[in-house]
Parts: sequence; structure tokens; C-alpha cells
Amino acid sequence: KILVVGSGGREHVLGWKLARDACAPDLYFAPGNTGTASLGTNIELSADDLDGLAAWASREKPDLTVIGPEAPLCAGIADRFEERGLRVFGPCAAAARLEGSKAFAKEIMESGGVPTARAARFTDLSDAKDYVRSEGVPIVIKADGLAAGKGVTVCDSVEQADAALDAALTEKVFGEAGASVLVEEFMEGEEASILALVDGTNFVLLASSQDHKRALDGDAGPNTGGMGAYSPAPVVTDELWPIIRNDIVLNTIAELSRRGIAFRGVLYAGLMISDSGPRVVEFNVRFGDPEAQCVIPRMKSDLVPVLNA
Ligand code: AMP
Ligand code: GLY
Repeated sequence: KILVVGSGGREHVLGWKLARDACAPDLYFAPGNTGTASLGTNIELSADDLDGLAAWASREKPDLTVIGPEAPLCAGIADRFEERGLRVFGPCAAAARLEGSKAFAKEIMESGGVPTARAARFTDLSDAKDYVRSEGVPIVIKADGLAAGKGVTVCDSVEQADAALDAALTEKVFGEAGASVLVEEFMEGEEASILALVDGTNFVLLASSQDHKRALDGDAGPNTGGMGAYSPAPVVTDELWPIIRNDIVLNTIAELSRRGIAFRGVLYAGLMISDSGPRVVEFNVRFGDPEAQCVIPRMKSDLVPVLNA
């Protein structure tokens, strides 16, 4: 009996794969969608309703719960389930900060020796604007917290950077999530996504993928969380894998564990691949959506044993 939390294409493909597992699980989705309804039972509970989900799971006792989206993970759903003795796939809140706070992620990368863009953190508007002027453009302004994929502005001019800083620090358009910002070096290159299944210490890497970021055909229009995806990403060549494995994924898990934080779940590394090698753009703490939709169907092994491990 498996509960999948979330309502996207990601949760549909997780269900699709789980339904094909040798153990033939009974599947429940909270809240699920039209696709998941054909694979199991949709429950009327939102992915953010931690109390409702914990109560349902305490009563119905799923053998495993798989968390799709980041918001419940950052809010501590894995901790809540574990306190109740329920098996859950997804990191605890302390580890989910890798996605929930870009400043925390940057700190982990800097102390762990993980290749990434140079960045500085600001809460003061004029300090941030001075820094932009000393660094020059292009430059990237990022709200520290979760902003539903809208917290990042790639700025080609100082005026655009000023506007992004005003919006976050003065107008507070991202609320608390933008009360602190990172001002980050612009990285040239092509992006790719890497998903690692991590048990706290050991990990396996899934196939590479890439999502189509722009909203419109021909790579035009605004940036999105991904309009579609494909796998493998040809930009991830054979010689990059040892760097991804050792410098990026291993160093990140090891740095967290030095701080007493065990990462269990999916570590998603969003990479920028340039002539100087791969560098981390962002970490997510869950399967990518839409990336999961092209990576998971390629998996030859069953998913349940890996998630249990
Ligand atoms: P994030 O939410 O951090 O993934 O940022 C959203 C998008 O902004 C990324 O997928 C990139 O396309 C772009 N971006 C973020 N940081 C940088 C950077 N340092 N250099 C270039 N592009 C970036
Ligand atoms: N496709 C980007 C993400 O899942 O965050």
C-alpha cells in the first residue's frame, strides 16, 4: 500500500511506474489528478495539508509514502511521518533546506567544495545595489526562499538588477522568501538535470535529462519550471559523470552529514554545463517535474525496492 503525495505529471509518472512494480502495490494519491485516478484512489487532501495527511496515514497505515513536491518537504512532512513510525520517501526539513533556502544551499556548496557560481547574500538594499555595481552585468538576483519558480531574475542591465532588488527587498513581492536575496555570478552554458537517489550516505544516479524552460516554441517567452523534458541530455557527456558523482553529489551529501543532517530522498542537481565543466545552479530535494516524466519510464529496475532502500 503506497501513498503518493502531489498532483502533477510527476506524481502521475511515479504512479505509472509503481503500478508496474513486482509487488503490485495498492496506490493512493493525495490529491492526485485525472491521470492518477486510473491507477489507484485519489484522496481529497492537498499536498500542503500536513495534519490531514498525517492523520490519514496513521489511520490507513500505508507501507510507504512518497512525497512529490517541495513545499510539504520543506514544511517537515517527512519528520511528521517518521515521528509516527510511518515509512516515508523524501528528506527531513533540515535537509530540504537545500531547496528551501538558496543561501543555505550556497553555504553547503561553498564549504563542501561543490562547483557553483560565486554569490553574496544581502538583506540591505543599498549594499546589494553597490555589490551589483562592483560585479557588473549580466548578474542574477535570487530570492532566498521558495517562490514557486519565480524568484530568479537574470539581469542584463544594472537597471533590471535594481528593479529585481527593489521588488524583493522593498516591495516584498515574494514575502518572507525574498527578505534575503542572493546576488550571483551569471553562468554561461547549457542546463541539465541530474537526479540522485540517496539513503543518507550512499546514492545512485538516474539518467540525465533536460527540461524546456521557455514558455513558447523556439525557446522564446518567459522562463518556467519546465514545459516538457527529454532524457538523456546529450550535453552530459561521459567525462562529466565522475565530476557530477564526486564533486557535486558526494560532496553535498558529505557536507550535510558533517553537519549532522542525513539526506534521504531525491537530490536533484540543476547544472550549468560550460566549457569549464558542470556547476550547480540550484538544488531541489525531490523528483523534477517534468523531468521525472522522461527519466522514470526509462528505469529498467523496479522503483519500490529502491525507494525502500
Ligand atoms: P533556479 O530557480 O535557481 O533554478 O533559477 C531559475 C533559472 O534561472 C535557472 O534554471 C537558470 O535558467 C537561470 N539561472 C539561475 N541562476 C543562474 C546563474 N547563476 N547563471 C545563469 N542562469 C541562471
Ligand atoms: N523542472 C524543474 C523542477 O522540477 O524544479
